[in-house]
Amino acid sequence: MTQAVRFHDQHVDEASASFLDDVMAGLSARPKALSPKYFYDQRGSQLFEAICRQPEYYLTRTEEGILAAAAEEIAAIVGPESLLVELGSGASRKVRLLLEAMRPSRYLGVDISRDFLLQSTRLLAADYPWLEVHAAWADFSQRLCLPAGVEGRRVVAFFPGSSIGNFEPQEAEVFLSRLRRAMPPGSGVLIGVDLVKDRGVLEAAYDDAAGVTAAFNLNLLERMQRELGAEVEVGNFRHLAFFNEAASRIEMHLVSQCAQVIGIDSRRFAFSRGETLHTENSCKYRLEGFQALAERAGYRPAAVWTDTDRLFSVHYLSTDALSTDAD
Ligand code: TRP
Repeated sequence: MTQAVRFHDQHVDEASASFLDDVMAGLSARPKALSPKYFYDQRGSQLFEAICRQPEYYLTRTEEGILAAAAEEIAAIVGPESLLVELGSGASRKVRLLLEAMRPSRYLGVDISRDFLLQSTRLLAADYPWLEVHAAWADFSQRLCLPAGVEGRRVVAFFPGSSIGNFEPQEAEVFLSRLRRAMPPGSGVLIGVDLVKDRGVLEAAYDDAAGVTAAFNLNLLERMQRELGAEVEVGNFRHLAFFNEAASRIEMHLVSQCAQVIGIDSRRFAFSRGETLHTENSCKYRLEGFQALAERAGYRPAAVWTDTDRLFSVHYLSTDALSTDAD
């Protein structure tokens, strides 16, 4: 018998209201910038799944290989009957590599894309009838708390895909520390982290030949048209991704190809030729650098797995830090 997905609506704001406010603020900022969470409407989420299948995007397949190979070890560390919470669950595909080995009693998928979340968790519930499946529609960058009735004695927060890299290191530390305080003792974070490597490999991953990442980036402008009625000539912007070595991050921008204006309601935002809208960072770490960050956030880095080429890493961070801390 297939269980129904239990749905929890944790959306604080009316989604489009905060989108409008953030777009207005982002287009007024110098330099212009926008939060990457707005990439993930229904179309953006689908394009992101397509990015993950591009030959240049080594992250997904490498992380999946690491998880598949490490599943039994991860299960041994975590133990059975945990509450497995996936942050930014998307298609809920990677978690399938862990479920049989880990045997959690509950799964909670958290995602900002409501319909996508519902579709994915329904498929998961159908395929794993023994698992109690929950879905929370939430912006976990704003709010981190378990929905009522989904408490677990031991929580494993699964945060794959190097999404942690989409925070600045300082923000990542704050986020991980908040996450730690939201979980009971004996919990942990299973987190995928992309590693520093050759510039060519990095840049190709964020500018695939088929143009899927470019379409994903430009979808942000199309979303402004669809949801905010923005007047913007999408064809006058171009996708740009480059490795900023000093900051150890891939930067993604939309570059204005000419002097032009974006109009939203009565507001007008001028772009000069070559001016960019900064849409995303993807920070790249070294193993020790990430472990040091995790320690500053109050965790004990308990295990780490990588592929043989050291492209990508998966860490298990325990909330049971060696040092005693007051908060
Ligand atoms: N977490 C992913 C990453 O940093 C997100 C991502 C991949 C992404 N490709 C992108 C975000 C392109 C925006 C644009 O790799």
